[in-house]
Amino acid sequence: ADALRRGASQVLLANWTGASTVPSRTLYPHQWSWDSAFVAVGLRHLSAHRAQRELESLLAAQWADGRIPHIVFSPAVPEDAYFPSPSFWRSSQAGQVSGAPAAPETSGIVQPPVHALAAWLVHRADPEESRRRGFLDRVHPRLTAWHDYLLTRRDLGGGGLAAAVHPWEPGTDNSPCWDRALARVEPALPGTFRRADLDHGRSADRPTDLDYGRYVRLAADYREAGYDDRATRHAFAVEDPCFNALLIVSERALAAMARVLGRDDTPHTARADALTRHLVTRLWDADAGLFRVRDLHTDTLVDEGAVTGLVPLVVPHLPAEVVRSLRDTLTGPRFRAPATRLVPSYDLTGPAFDAHRYWRGPAWFNTAWLIHRGLRVHGLDTDAARLRRGFLAEAGHSGFAEYVDPVTGTPRGARHFSWTASLTLDLLN
Ligand code: DGY
Repeated sequence: ADALRRGASQVLLANWTGASTVPSRTLYPHQWSWDSAFVAVGLRHLSAHRAQRELESLLAAQWADGRIPHIVFSPAVPEDAYFPSPSFWRSSQAGQVSGAPAAPETSGIVQPPVHALAAWLVHRADPEESRRRGFLDRVHPRLTAWHDYLLTRRDLGGGGLAAAVHPWEPGTDNSPCWDRALARVEPALPGTFRRADLDHGRSADRPTDLDYGRYVRLAADYREAGYDDRATRHAFAVEDPCFNALLIVSERALAAMARVLGRDDTPHTARADALTRHLVTRLWDADAGLFRVRDLHTDTLVDEGAVTGLVPLVVPHLPAEVVRSLRDTLTGPRFRAPATRLVPSYDLTGPAFDAHRYWRGPAWFNTAWLIHRGLRVHGLDTDAARLRRGFLAEAGHSGFAEYVDPVTGTPRGARHFSWTASLTLDLLN
């Protein structure tokens, strides 16, 4: 455990840039939104002060409409190190309608709202330091504005959940859950952009060129509409169970912060309760034993099983039969990877399963951490302990890989990946 702790700490120290942490020095050389939140969760065990700064630097790039951009670009990194770069997003110009800051440059889309949960955990790691710096006082209003954005501008389905308008938003870029919705999107022509990810990652581990053509088209259309959700004709719009589960857990974290700050917590608890009802009503599939994605163009549930459908286990106050059924799915043939004890990103028996390719099969550490937390929330401690053992073993022997083959444990994607290291530290504490 000591060697693992040392290794994880070294990754976080090496990926710290002075005000925030890059997910990977090679593949992702800027600041990413949900990565930063997961990083703060582990960083708090090394330095609560630094973990606060991690979140503060992200929140400093918040737009006037409340959105937290999925990437905050570092001006020190060469333009061609990552695609799409600032000159693609053009946030400081194209985002003026929606209130993008003049600096720093950011992307115009978002990622799952795990930030308030992270901020609450960071506060709890050192309440004294948090009070001294007025941490909660400063972040609580910003995080509330972030949730306001998601629940007003992004309730595209009108059912009380937040929609994602790009496959990068739920964070599971090439999940088979998006295949049908993406098939409706006309891809940008291959010669009109140059991928940088293939300079660092093996192409069999990454999304395809056709995927990228569609990612580019969707982002460019949003940009051309000024990143204005009311003006954009969103060709892709989905309700994702993981995204909305994190919104619920984060809303409960805002309630806890409000109580510490001596403010009224009832708007937050009311919002979390309503979201929990909507999540179950709109996305629970009792026959499948997991939560599904809702495609807002057809208003139907997508018939694919992904780990994002199990992550809502992290939500407290779920109906007992939902918890029971999620646990059965997690330990059944579709998601139980006996050798690694990790959770694959996609149904092991599903038609699109691919053990190597990003979110189409590989096991990721952030989803395992969330499911571990969910198992604990619902008192399923034996299952939680099993998952924790698998997590720590695979994190260590993979060199803190971005993801691993769920069956063999072979490392895939980037190594020395920040959230893998950070969440390792958290599980060791
Ligand atoms: C990438 O670049 O692969 C990210 O997943 C998009 O944010």
